[in-house]
Amino acid sequence: MTYVVTEACIKCKYTDCVEVCPVDCFYEGDNMLVIHPDECIDCGVCEPECPADAIKADTEPGLEKWLALNARFAVVWPNISDKKEALSDAEEFEGLDGKFEKFFSEAAGSQ
Ligand code: SF4
Ligand code: F3S
Repeated sequence: MTYVVTEACIKCKYTDCVEVCPVDCFYEGDNMLVIHPDECIDCGVCEPECPADAIKADTEPGLEKWLALNARFAVVWPNISDKKEALSDAEEFEGLDGKFEKFFSEAAGSQ
């Protein structure tokens, strides 16, 4: 198994998660992060750290799309291991539905 970042991260990107990951397996897109499924050691430490509740264990049902997205972009986007400022309007987008369709970007994040 692995942990995966889901839709709730989009347009928030709080980055509290990267600070606690012991193996630095988060990768940064323009408006969300993903977890590399082969690098994650399933420690679960990141899950409660996310203010947006975006991190889930892949044993939860219905996460196939997100697991595939995490695997795909973890090998394209740059690694991120230090917390940075959340996106400026993160609170406005926290908890909104339909963020993937409206806002997901394949663009890589920049440090
Ligand atoms: Fe990192 Fe552990 Fe979270 Fe996996 S579960 S991404 S190893 S903190
Ligand atoms: Fe995203 Fe939550 Fe990390 S919003 S950047 S998964 S702390």
